[in-house]
Amino acid sequence: MKMVKLLLGMALAVSTGGVFAQTVKIGFITSYSGLNGNLGPYMERAVRLYLKQHEKELGGVKVELITRDDTGPNPDKAKQLAQELVVRDKVHLLAGVIFTPNAMAIAPIATEAKVPFVIMNAGTAVITTRSPYMVRTSFTLWQSSYPLGQWAAKKYKTAYSLVSDFGPGHDSEDGFSKGFEEGGGKMLGKVRVPLQNPDWAAYMQRVKDAKPDVLQVFIPAGKTATAVMKNFSDLGLDKAGIKLIGPGDITTDEELPNMGDVALGVLTVHHYSAAADRPANKAFVAAWKKEYGANETPNFVAVGAYDGAAIIVEAIKQQKGKLDPEKTMEIFKHWKNPNSPRGPISIDPETRDIVQNEYLREVKKVGGVFANVEIETVATALKDPWKEMQKKK
Ligand code: PHB
Repeated sequence: MKMVKLLLGMALAVSTGGVFAQTVKIGFITSYSGLNGNLGPYMERAVRLYLKQHEKELGGVKVELITRDDTGPNPDKAKQLAQELVVRDKVHLLAGVIFTPNAMAIAPIATEAKVPFVIMNAGTAVITTRSPYMVRTSFTLWQSSYPLGQWAAKKYKTAYSLVSDFGPGHDSEDGFSKGFEEGGGKMLGKVRVPLQNPDWAAYMQRVKDAKPDVLQVFIPAGKTATAVMKNFSDLGLDKAGIKLIGPGDITTDEELPNMGDVALGVLTVHHYSAAADRPANKAFVAAWKKEYGANETPNFVAVGAYDGAAIIVEAIKQQKGKLDPEKTMEIFKHWKNPNSPRGPISIDPETRDIVQNEYLREVKKVGGVFANVEIETVATALKDPWKEMQKKK
């Protein structure tokens, strides 16, 4: 019997190239259906692209991505999926998540099971405080909306804010208002609209009647962004002289062709544009097109996931595929990349949140193609402003 086991073991060793290869299992939860279900595939494609590009560095360790559809902003479903992935599939890591409510629902599971959780999109500031096993490689809405407010105060006197009524919308409203008011601007009104199918025309009319210089909008990127753009134009807010601005979610790269001319001139602040001319970004966009087709373009969801895959690969490399949750978190906390497609990034070891630049961008037509053209770096190595302000309290 012993002999049989030994022989079996040897056969296994030979079949895996002479070593007992480890497999790292990642429970990958994202949105493939429901509200903005088009975003999930950007996340998955980015992770797969990074893993393919860096496979050789893994020393034979296999990475298994177990993908699950949370069906949009659906915390109960996300929680159930995370539980199954941890208990039944015994994943070593959790990753993904477009929507804040889903990230919040998964937090206690990451904590109880001690499974590190890499957040690749969800952007409400508070999320990472909910579990010591979370790290975020995407952004916070405060990172984009606070500098947007500061910048807008230098150009405009009055503003109105319109946001989706959930975590990231509240953060965008608060961050923008604080930056704008600190800079001497006046908020004429703030409105929070339902996450799903709001009556855009009614809300846009309310803004038009208030006659602000600018309207700042946050909605979750994807198809909702195009709905905002069309209604802004259809209700004639542009013709009434109101300028549309917001975090980059409202001009998300992949929707620009669907928005068309109405998006031209819209100014946003964000950490990533597919049109950025940094060499690392050009290489990223070229690799994306080679892998997925000449007409395909990555977006900010993709870059959050691409860098999320990078942080995971680093943890696997340093531990040779045998992941210990505490060591993994230590590696995450001290990770940096001076050369991400979005510029230099790092993880703040105190908060486990991303530190990055924020760029002012304008939608322009470049060579016949709509693009978020970066004009100016409005914040450098910016930590989540909300957490910085909490510390001072
Ligand atoms: C979020 O739920 O945190 C979220 C969703 C879509 C975005 C940004 C943030 O574009």
